Amino acid sequence: MTILAMDQGTTSSRALVFGDDLRVQAKAQQEFTQHFPQSGWVEHEPDDIWTTSAATARGAIEKAGNPRIDAIGITNQRETVIIWDRKTGAPIHNAIVWQDRRTADVIDRLKAQGVEDQVTDTTGLLLDPYFSATKIAWILDRVEGARARAEAGDLAFGTVDSFLIWKLTGGRSHVTDATNASRTMLYDIHKGRWSEDMCKLFGVPMALLPEVRDSASEFGITRADLFGREIPILGVAGDQQAATVGQACFQPGMMKSTYGTGCFALLNTGTEAVRSENRLLTTIAYQLKGKPVYALEGSIFIAGAVVQWLRDGLKMIREAGETGPLSQEADRSQQIILVPAFTGLGAPHWDPQARGAIFGLTRNTGPAELALAALESVGFQTRDLLDSMRADWSAAGDAVLRVDGGMTASGPAMQFLADIIGAPVDRPENTETTAQGAAWLAGYQAGLCPAPEEYAKAWRLDRRFEPGMGQSDRDARYARWQRAVQAVMSI
Ligand code: G3P
Repeated sequence: MTILAMDQGTTSSRALVFGDDLRVQAKAQQEFTQHFPQSGWVEHEPDDIWTTSAATARGAIEKAGNPRIDAIGITNQRETVIIWDRKTGAPIHNAIVWQDRRTADVIDRLKAQGVEDQVTDTTGLLLDPYFSATKIAWILDRVEGARARAEAGDLAFGTVDSFLIWKLTGGRSHVTDATNASRTMLYDIHKGRWSEDMCKLFGVPMALLPEVRDSASEFGITRADLFGREIPILGVAGDQQAATVGQACFQPGMMKSTYGTGCFALLNTGTEAVRSENRLLTTIAYQLKGKPVYALEGSIFIAGAVVQWLRDGLKMIREAGETGPLSQEADRSQQIILVPAFTGLGAPHWDPQARGAIFGLTRNTGPAELALAALESVGFQTRDLLDSMRADWSAAGDAVLRVDGGMTASGPAMQFLADIIGAPVDRPENTETTAQGAAWLAGYQAGLCPAPEEYAKAWRLDRRFEPGMGQSDRDARYARWQRAVQAVMSI
């Protein structure tokens, strides 16, 4: 068995070739340019997304010795919007990236109209510029003639998965999967179809929308000239959902947290779409054989990025890996708190205006104390999410947290995480959970990978971090963090 997983992320495109037992045979990665046309705006060139995806796919296949690829799985940065011409395939605007805040004023107006409850009831999401809907309308209203062409059915919208499939199939398939659809704010996650009401509310003509399929399904066949032969695309999921699958979180109550630039925690709630009372999102974790499995999701915008800031902003370290050892030299009695609200706060606060702060500085505070505070900020923010999950869904109380992403390499960061959440943190052997999730979806559809229960048995623990901190210490430290967050939100 040989499966190609294409992982199109926010800062780079990656491709991995998986062999038997979903072992990685080869990988390739290419970064691409980020465009910031105005403060708070983030764009990608669709052509960069496509060319880096195609090049890394070819590169990984070549490195693996040009095996015969049985199927392709795709996973992608979510919510990012691309609109293109159905005849020519040409995008009518740059991709507007999930991080982009340009539609904040539209969101404020909708909030003032009191429609947030209706939006949450239907889509499971909260009114925020993060999601696709207001970005689509922005393009239609700014590009001359676009709205009329959209209404006439001449244009197509897609999240990055749809766009890649369109390109891979030479325009034969305009499809997406349920996990990606569930991030657009246009999809009724309960009825399993695009919502006419949401499309009206956000001003998005339904003629733009792709067909929604299961996460393991027939998405189309690639053009023969791309990889030397036609290959079926059989698995698709948004990257955080693919990581949930890759971490084998198939049972209700299982949860994973991925530490990349940001951090995204998903708790599997099974067939029940739990409505959050604590500002979390309800989303589709994956959909197999027509049955959606739901998750509660907490999204933090700055996790690994706080270490990047120590490196590139403060120039305190040369490599991210130095943070853990440096933090071990800190004078712990100082209890410095760093709230990394560099781009506002995500879940559960959703405050786009908040900005970062450091509390408790003394003349003895130096790089070691800041490194410790940076690592601890990731633990504290995860605790915010987990407390909301526990309040929303009591079964979350005993859950073990499965972690993945670059930051999990730091033992001290993972130990503090276990200490402050008061629950075990499991780091798996497999560090490629996102790509593996996409590969498994494709392999499962092809009949080459085992069913979820069997696949789950192959999940291997690298290390478990047990909580060591005493309860009163944990409570006191977390209370300090909460006061610090309140302070940055009120200043
Ligand atoms: O919701 C945004 C998320 O999918 C982005 O993930 O890994 O591309 O930063 P990543």
